[in-house]
Amino acid sequence: MNRPLATTERSLARPRYEHRGIDFGCDYNPEQWDRSVWREDVALMREVGISLVAVNIFGWSELQSPDGSLDFSGLDEIIGLLHDAGIRVNLGTGTASPPPWLTTRHPEILPVVSDGTTRFPGGRQAWCPSSPVFRQYALALVDAVAERYGEHPAVALWHVSNELGCHNALCYCDRSAAAFREWLRARYGSIAALNRAWGTSFWSQRYTDWEEIGTPRLTLSTRNPGQVLDFSRFSSDELLSYYRAEQAVIRRHSSAPITTNFMVTAHIRELDYWTWAPEVDVIANDHYLDHRLEHPAAELAFAADLTRGLSHGAPWMLMEHSTGSVNWQPHNLAKAPGQMLRDSLQHVARGADSLCFFQWRASVQGSEKFHSALIPHAGTDSALWREALELGDVLERLGEVAGTRVVADVALLFSWEAWWAADAENRPSEAVSYLDQVWAIHRALRAAGAEVDVVRPGADLSGYRLIVVPGLHLVRDQEAATVDAAVAAGAHTLITFYSGIVDENDRVRPGGYPAVWRDLLGIRVEEFAPVLPGDVVSLESGGRASLWTERMVAHDADVVDRFVGGPAAGMPALTRRRGTAGDGDAWYLGTFPDEAALARILDDVLTAAGANRLADAHADVDVVRRAGTDRTYRFIINNGTDDLVHRARGTDLVTGEGVSGSIRIPAGAVRVIREDMTS
Ligand code: GAL
Repeated sequence: MNRPLATTERSLARPRYEHRGIDFGCDYNPEQWDRSVWREDVALMREVGISLVAVNIFGWSELQSPDGSLDFSGLDEIIGLLHDAGIRVNLGTGTASPPPWLTTRHPEILPVVSDGTTRFPGGRQAWCPSSPVFRQYALALVDAVAERYGEHPAVALWHVSNELGCHNALCYCDRSAAAFREWLRARYGSIAALNRAWGTSFWSQRYTDWEEIGTPRLTLSTRNPGQVLDFSRFSSDELLSYYRAEQAVIRRHSSAPITTNFMVTAHIRELDYWTWAPEVDVIANDHYLDHRLEHPAAELAFAADLTRGLSHGAPWMLMEHSTGSVNWQPHNLAKAPGQMLRDSLQHVARGADSLCFFQWRASVQGSEKFHSALIPHAGTDSALWREALELGDVLERLGEVAGTRVVADVALLFSWEAWWAADAENRPSEAVSYLDQVWAIHRALRAAGAEVDVVRPGADLSGYRLIVVPGLHLVRDQEAATVDAAVAAGAHTLITFYSGIVDENDRVRPGGYPAVWRDLLGIRVEEFAPVLPGDVVSLESGGRASLWTERMVAHDADVVDRFVGGPAAGMPALTRRRGTAGDGDAWYLGTFPDEAALARILDDVLTAAGANRLADAHADVDVVRRAGTDRTYRFIINNGTDDLVHRARGTDLVTGEGVSGSIRIPAGAVRVIREDMTS
């Protein structure tokens, strides 16, 4: 149960989730409502076009009494009502949060945080992923639910737990420590190997016995980075092993597809979804706009591209998003009129074939009573409901888009392991974060109209014209070699600073950075020289940069730009090793340029690579294409404040109007053109 999971492992005989057009779905928590409301709810679901409903997500305390007896009458009734209405069910296993009687009886299942203190029930997800007691009770419930509904014709999909690891991914209790030790034994085999991997000769940390090793609880100083990194890997694997345990129980009773809702990407970094993706029958993601970020809409686009990457390009499900505000940010902003449609179609444009909301009816009690829903507190006489009706109509008209795929010729390498390693304690600059680099590059590519697949390091890169590697701090030799191979085969690459620095054990490769790509790039970085937040570094080209510079020698590359001031004044900031004999060019960027400078750099890089670019895209306008064997659809999403005239021929599926040459897209609107292939 606690062994490290091989990343290539896959369950055999995978059932497929069948999207029906673009599914329109929602979470429904009928247990919060009097049964008299249920019929009205189902009638309204039909009216708005809901086709898939998730129930029993937090059902445990409704279903089971302390004596273990189960009462399925409510779930029977609601599944029956949905089925009679022709609505498919996405059935939760109900295990997301243990009932109070269980945590009272077994307080040892409660999670412990890094300072060693326990976190108590009264919220949600109060369980330790390594607790055998929790697992025993939870799997017994799953068994009962799956036995009862395993062959129910309404059940189109199983929804394991909910957002596994949202709150409890890292548990530091003694049971977790024991499981961590088992995982380490399987990974390293001997204490000597572990000591080597963690570099424990530093600060007198050498272990002599497995029992000396614990979870990386808070210390007086900073913690061993190897230990922290492995604890992240272990914690991700541990929850995945829990997912697999629920999956195995369901499989005994049902052949329906099984999944769980991922959380890609802004706030949750604890799960390495590259290792999870092969385990689910369909990739499902939850996404909420995060207004704490500088560019929430750009983050949405990145998350959607990454989710498609997890799905290897196949259609995926947006399992949750919101009609309006959430309740968990410091300032919970409402969506502007039309924004719900725009944001929804942004996900569809980038490959989602299911669009589901949290939740159907706004709660009137509990922590989420001020979270938006399809039916707000104001009821159906509301702009939100009218927008939901409009969305239902549009999704119906977009049904023919289902099954088509985004075809990208730019690959962006992304890694959760690299994120863990890059954003560790004691790094060169706390102002530089992995995601900031990744987002900046993706934002610039999106604004340039490039079509980008987000892929894991080591993935097959054939077919891409450009491989972009932002800040990939941790990379294995063999993963790095795939970039070299792609460049040798003619692809171009752009690698940015702090990439390729450490191996999988967080060990620096000496001899000048980035050792693993020094030859490919024709450069050698001798020293990092970050600058203080707020300081601006000028570039010879006239551009401006911030946060990071480095002292670098370009021994086999053209210097495209140099630092004018700052700690690396006069040294290269941007280099290009031109390909010869069929190789592509290898660019290296050693700083964090501002938006305008980065746009210019990517313009040059994309042009040199010959990458495809969709016209009219810019920072406020997304242009994305989905293609099938005999048809293509162009999504134009105008997030800006100016109307846009876009050249196209075909039919706009949003308005139903023909487009013969050009189409006006008002500020805030979205259009989806079925392109005329004959023009
Ligand atoms: C998700 C969760 C839902 C709901 C939603 C609110 O994290 O799965 O149950 O809490 O957020 O935004």
